[in-house]
Amino acid sequence: MASVANVSNDRYQLWGGCFAEEPSDALRRLNDSLAVDCRMFREDISGSQGWALELHRSGHLNDDDYLAIKQGLQKVAQEIEDELCKYGKLSDIEEDIHSVVERRLHKHAGDAALKLHTARSRNDQSATDTRLWMLASFQKLSDALKDLIAILANRAEKEINIITPGYTHLQRAQPIRWSQFLLSHAWAFHGDVTRLEEQNKRLSICPLGSGALAGCALPIDRTRLAHSLGFQGVTPNSMFAVSSRDHIVEFLNWSALCGVHLSRMSEDLIIYSSQEFGTVRLSDQFSTGSSLMPQKRNPDGLELVRGAAALLLADSVAVISTLKGLPSTYNKDLQSDKEILFRSYDKLADCLKVINGTIATLEVNAEKALGTLEPTMLATDLAHLLVRRGVPFRRAHHHVGALLRRAAELGTDLLNLPHHEYTSICPEFGKETDVQSIFSWEASVEQYTSLGGTAKSAVEHQISLLRRWLQQP
Ligand code: ARG
Repeated sequence: MASVANVSNDRYQLWGGCFAEEPSDALRRLNDSLAVDCRMFREDISGSQGWALELHRSGHLNDDDYLAIKQGLQKVAQEIEDELCKYGKLSDIEEDIHSVVERRLHKHAGDAALKLHTARSRNDQSATDTRLWMLASFQKLSDALKDLIAILANRAEKEINIITPGYTHLQRAQPIRWSQFLLSHAWAFHGDVTRLEEQNKRLSICPLGSGALAGCALPIDRTRLAHSLGFQGVTPNSMFAVSSRDHIVEFLNWSALCGVHLSRMSEDLIIYSSQEFGTVRLSDQFSTGSSLMPQKRNPDGLELVRGAAALLLADSVAVISTLKGLPSTYNKDLQSDKEILFRSYDKLADCLKVINGTIATLEVNAEKALGTLEPTMLATDLAHLLVRRGVPFRRAHHHVGALLRRAAELGTDLLNLPHHEYTSICPEFGKETDVQSIFSWEASVEQYTSLGGTAKSAVEHQISLLRRWLQQP
């Protein structure tokens, strides 16, 4: 049996005193989590630094031991950092990062290292590491999303004069500014950032000092400890502290929704970049070709993002399913929380890089967009002309419907329909020039000046709202 007295060759195990035999290889393989949790080595070491300081302050570590641990942990951090940088993984045979850090600390700090785990459990330790890791990672996701919003807002400003069809049911509906389309997605991402920020106050509570489940039997100042680690507060109950993974569920639900937003925007762009629409051309950097058909430019990046949304959704279901029916406090089922958390985080972070690059480098074809508009899309505007002349909207809607039917009978469209057809259906259509003035894409979009609309002023207002929000600290 490995023991702390013989740490040179054997696996350093944080438990096992009462076992006569080693665990089977099969169990070891299933149980070992180092390949996953080594990613939290910085957080594990910060947590240990904070814990050692509290043990020292409460008189459970003398000055020499505290100093040895403090300096030893710094060396361990540097060692692990270097090895991960060089080899991409740790070659240690221990089951998890907590055991690795303690074994390596023993090498540098001697038997002082054996006092570090006083009154601490891996249950509160790993819960603390995970929350610290999440706090740092949230910031990165939020920064990437803000970059995306800035890219969308910049394009929206630059391309504000481009008018393109807006769709409902994927049928041509009304002309809109291309910028209004871009900003519609920017606002979804704005919602994602604010939702992520709202999770912080529930996430930023420190479980350390909760022990295995009952709390800490030594007089530790948990609030001081939490603040020293950068948390806003402490978990209010020791059993909750080691048991709850609600913050992970909340994050995974969030990333699933963010993934859905990325997926929907991707889908729009996939459609717009098809030859049938052709309003968007993706850059070479963010397109791929076919091994067989030389002419193909495939939107693989966008398709991968659309596909990733399904994986993110599946991950959010995986963790909540693990929790359902789980007895209170720590059970080993919970170990997979980090595997899923990291996987989802990586996927989303990669998707954001691809999306940001795709949006920043795509080209929009303003002429093609304009060419895709057709007079029928101004039917609503004709109804509004009648409304402005006192015709009730429902009646106006029917009159324009009748015009469309008449144009179809005559094999023409609203623009070329003879004016007397208009006035015979409804005299309030008035002069021919009044009707002709409706057939302007620019005039059409400029009607929508109210907040959130597609008129230039309303679009510019949205851009300035987003920019002001992006500049907030
Ligand atoms: N690797 C474990 C995890 O992340 C650490 C906690 C182990 N606790 C225990 N009671 N065996 O979940």
